[in-house]
Amino acid sequence: MKIKIKINGTIKTINVKADEYLVDTLRNNGCVSVRRGCDTTSCGICTVLLDGAPVASCSYLSCRADSHEVTTVEGIQEEAALIADFFGHEGADQCGYCNPSMALTLYAMKRELKNPDDDEIRAYLVGNLCRCSGYVAQHRAIRAYLEVE
Ligand code: FES
Ligand code: FES
Repeated sequence: MKIKIKINGTIKTINVKADEYLVDTLRNNGCVSVRRGCDTTSCGICTVLLDGAPVASCSYLSCRADSHEVTTVEGIQEEAALIADFFGHEGADQCGYCNPSMALTLYAMKRELKNPDDDEIRAYLVGNLCRCSGYVAQHRAIRAYLEVE
């Protein structure tokens, strides 16, 4: 079936299978920052933004994205570089596998939450797992990033 989808600002008409997931459609269309981790909606590694909100692309059927807008890290490169700087400064950047999904989630969080406290930040990040960092340094980096105007 054909779907019309806006990917990082460009409207595309794409043929997808009925059982195709968004992670594959995006990777097949050049968005190779989108990755699989668990493939069971548990780790958040495959997160992309659908109309600005984080979704797990490993379990989101591509046909449901018809007429919607999807953002991947390829579409927020400047902001992702800024987030990476904060993570690097705090020593929160290790294997990097979770970086794209974390950057997209923080990008959405910054636009959705105004002056979140620590509990609100943690609640927003539920489902974004990082196997390396232990989260403490990440949390410091996130706080610093959220304070940038
Ligand atoms: S790969 Fe999608 S949530 Fe883990
Ligand atoms: S830095 Fe390795 S999974 Fe997060």
